Amino acid sequence: ARHLLGIEHLAPDEITTLIDLADTYATDNRAGKTHRDVLAGMTQINMFFENSTRTQASFELAGKKLGADVMNMAMQSSSVKKGETLIDTALTLNAMHPDLLVVRHPSSGAVDLLAQKVNGAVLNAGDGRHEHPTQALLDGLTIRRAKGRLHRLSIAICGDIAHSRVARSNIMLLGKMENRVRLIAPPTLMPAGISEFGVEVFDDMEKGLQDVDVVMMLRLQKERMDGGFIPSEREYFHRYGLDAAKLARAKPDAIVMHPGPMNRGVEIDGTIADDINRSVIQTQVEMGVAVRMAAMDLLARNLRAARAEAAA
Ligand code: CP
Repeated sequence: ARHLLGIEHLAPDEITTLIDLADTYATDNRAGKTHRDVLAGMTQINMFFENSTRTQASFELAGKKLGADVMNMAMQSSSVKKGETLIDTALTLNAMHPDLLVVRHPSSGAVDLLAQKVNGAVLNAGDGRHEHPTQALLDGLTIRRAKGRLHRLSIAICGDIAHSRVARSNIMLLGKMENRVRLIAPPTLMPAGISEFGVEVFDDMEKGLQDVDVVMMLRLQKERMDGGFIPSEREYFHRYGLDAAKLARAKPDAIVMHPGPMNRGVEIDGTIADDINRSVIQTQVEMGVAVRMAAMDLLARNLRAARAEAAA
């Protein structure tokens, strides 16, 4: 493929190829082995129209580890603030011939639109409520490393499913890899028609967490609840926050995940987030660098092949 826009477009064998390569990069990163030849001579532009800590930092680090020339566009101080549109911004940057464009945008579908206007490879770093493919891939790698496999597991995704691109991408990836996915959320935060995706739906944490292998918590995304019902944090934690009593329903060796940013005492008890015997939250961050290296490596190979074919 030319771009990485969503898990929706990936076949199970493509997911496995990406995760296998990322696993190798993760091992090499821990050993301090570098791969600066992989993207040598390539230019990577990171365009984040929405805030980020993990995704932006890990894409930047991944590009540098692979030898790309990495430029971070400061979108808050760009001409977007003077009214320049997303497409005009994309065309302007395209004229500078970037090879890889990493884009985060608050509107669902904006990254797909941008990908149609540029010559380089586009990686979706999160668009609205739509997809966050590299997050689902890093979650898949984290699960596979912790559980020894990424199939036939029972995985609960809990919290604000309705506003979550992380949930959407994970539902697709985990389903394609033949896992059993349960969604647990208050009815107001559960998207209508979601059971069509082959998931089980619960509004009770204790029932939904029964005997699961993986507990994936999500942040309450108040910034996307424009005018809608916002639950009180206290009440929400009581009913849907992950604490020791609720986690006791899961398998004794169940792992706890959270994509971040995390709100302690709202969707997760801080002591559980910090429990190194259960929580793999820091591993998720570590795997994020490796997954982004793998994604850019594979897209760069395709880009080089397409250019060689065009030149022949
Ligand atoms: N998980 C995630 O996308 O985090 P950031 O918003 O910090 O990039």
